[in-house]
Amino acid sequence: MSRTLIVSNRLPTKGQRTAEGFTFQPSEGSLATGLGSVYQADGNVWVGWPGLSVEEPAEQAQVTEQLRQDSMAPVFLTEDEIRDFYEGFSNSTLWPTFHYFSQYATYEQAHWEAYVAVNEKFCRAVLELAGPEDTVWVHDYQLLLLPEMLRQQRPEATIGFFLHIPFPSYELVRVLPWGAQLLRGMLGADLIGFHTFGYMHHFLSAVSQLLGLPSHNGQVETRTRTVLADAFPMGIDYGRYAEAAASEAARQHARTYRQALGHTRIVLSIDRLDYSKGIAQRLRAFELLLQRYPEWRGRVSLLMLVVPSRDQVAQYAALKEEIDELVGRINAQYSNIAWNPIHYFYRSFPPGELAALYRLADVALVTPVRDGMNLVAKEFIASKTDQRGVLILSERAGAAQELADALLINPTDTGQLVEALHEALHMPVEEQQTRMAALQALVQQYDVFAWTRLFLDRLTYSKIKQQTLATD
Ligand code: G6P
Repeated sequence: MSRTLIVSNRLPTKGQRTAEGFTFQPSEGSLATGLGSVYQADGNVWVGWPGLSVEEPAEQAQVTEQLRQDSMAPVFLTEDEIRDFYEGFSNSTLWPTFHYFSQYATYEQAHWEAYVAVNEKFCRAVLELAGPEDTVWVHDYQLLLLPEMLRQQRPEATIGFFLHIPFPSYELVRVLPWGAQLLRGMLGADLIGFHTFGYMHHFLSAVSQLLGLPSHNGQVETRTRTVLADAFPMGIDYGRYAEAAASEAARQHARTYRQALGHTRIVLSIDRLDYSKGIAQRLRAFELLLQRYPEWRGRVSLLMLVVPSRDQVAQYAALKEEIDELVGRINAQYSNIAWNPIHYFYRSFPPGELAALYRLADVALVTPVRDGMNLVAKEFIASKTDQRGVLILSERAGAAQELADALLINPTDTGQLVEALHEALHMPVEEQQTRMAALQALVQQYDVFAWTRLFLDRLTYSKIKQQTLATD
């Protein structure tokens, strides 16, 4: 029977070394939370890094065995690889460039070499596990070279690739000294998926300008093969979020939070710590709301969850300081004994508590300056079982292409953001419910299972088509 191997840099679980051995907890980020529900079906395996450095062979064997029981296969990264491949090329070159933060990007030859070497390491791991009939589905910007590496070893293999972050305009790609190699790496796949048509068009334009390969209806003709690019907006496990929000545990947590918060309205914000998420801009907008509309002082609180991420990368550490300072300043200026404008948490929350927060929130403030998709917006929608609540969403999140019934804003326009907040807090219940019903219908229909099916069916179809053309 053929299986699907999911390959991504990070496994959906991350390990920790304790006195009793290794323990594992869920990873952060939309790739892990989104795909976490689907990979275990039909004997599939997820190949990736378990999130910590394990160099001792005996310990590696122990981790491998523990993960094997959950259908995962680890690829171990050394300390140097974590620094040069993960923090370096992946998160100090590709991440800022693809999110239009070129000013943060570094261009280090040593980081590039580590990126090539780690992609090769993943290639060896996949070849060991994958049979000739198996489908290999590679994910995200850390592994852009992997499809072509696999193709060279297995010319007939079925290989899909999905990019979870934006694909930027050609003008950004051409700045990268290794742009052409990265594009060739992706073109090793049979099918390349993006969250939006905009990202797909940027990719096709970069392929045409940097590699001189034209495309027609999303099909790129390389010298030897036809590669298809298409848009597949990722969904969530809708049922799981809806059930969690309706559960008795979530109700209880929500009651406890409500007692602690009193009658204030709640604006919720949840992100990994990242400059692409617009967290500082959001805080400034909230401050301006309190200035411009004093009626909200004492009556609305921002609950801001920031999940620690990539804290060894300089810009992330600097952003953390900026956020700490902004929260401190705003709270010091506006709070009183009975009310705090901002409740700020710098840690991850267990799913049961998250469900309670989604339930309680009157408004979700999802305002990234750039975001491939943003699944928090969809999780909020799925959690609103009474259909009350308003989503304010950045037009620069991939999700905005689908979620037209949210209040769409430009995250750098602080004035517009303040007006959207004011409007959301005043929105009549009927309008909230009409908008939320439309949003829910969409997010429920295109859930993560539909997304996986669409991608894998298209991959099979494009493979059969290629084989037919080859034998014609
Ligand atoms: C984004 C990326 C993922 C990544 C996640 C968490 O969602 O698209 O590939 O895994 O962030 O980031 P981290 O660096 O902790 O893996």
